[in-house]
Amino acid sequence: MSDAEQIKLRPWARTDVPALVRYANNRKIWLNLRDIFPHPYTRAHAEKWIAICESSRGPTTNFAIELQGEAVGSIGYRLLDDVNCKTAIIGYWLGEPFWGRGIATAALKQATDGAFQSFPLERVEATVFEWNPGSARVLEKAGYLLEARLRRSIFKDGRVADSLLYARIRQ
Ligand SMILES: CC(C)(COP(=O)(O)OP(=O)(O)OC[C@H]1O[C@@H](n2cnc3c(N)ncnc32)[C@H](O)[C@@H]1OP(=O)(O)O)[C@@H](O)C(=O)NCCC(=O)NCCS
Repeated sequence: MSDAEQIKLRPWARTDVPALVRYANNRKIWLNLRDIFPHPYTRAHAEKWIAICESSRGPTTNFAIELQGEAVGSIGYRLLDDVNCKTAIIGYWLGEPFWGRGIATAALKQATDGAFQSFPLERVEATVFEWNPGSARVLEKAGYLLEARLRRSIFKDGRVADSLLYARIRQ
């Protein structure tokens, strides 16, 4: 079985703290995520994140990507409200040693299917920074369509940049 076929999405646990710090503390990951994701990523950040996940109610929406018993990445979605209440925004990252094996694509397919099964959603969307063609490809392989280029919508690492809006709708 390939690594991508072996992955499992499951809730975060306190025992994941060392793996979370090991893989999340990476500038190449931070560069592609919102600034709420810290850098450097410390043990205190990992403990706080896992406490937040453990205290949240209802169906799990933030998952560890587990490969051979180890948390090697993260994928999660947030439900919007008001007139956007049938939309979720999804985000993900994977530890650098595991890039290029189809793992993020497998995780994204699983998480998106799970989101549509667990909630009465019509749409799951994701935003990719313009310098991240690998993640755009992951979204395309998982059935997301490019809907828009949001011009000059990002300020990250001291730069203004475009972002790409991708979405998958309920089939
Ligand atoms: C983006 C990320 C999740 C991809 O994870 P991954 O497991 O390596 O992704 P996959 O192996 O499933 O697929 C990657 C695809 O992108 C392609 N790709 C990678 N780098 C690329 C590049 N510079 N240009 C074009 N395509 C690229 C790969 O060839 C592969 O496509 P293929 O299967 O058609 O060959 C991972 O690199 C990561 O965590 N990056 C930092 C955080 C991040 O970007 N998160 C997403 C924010 S929107």
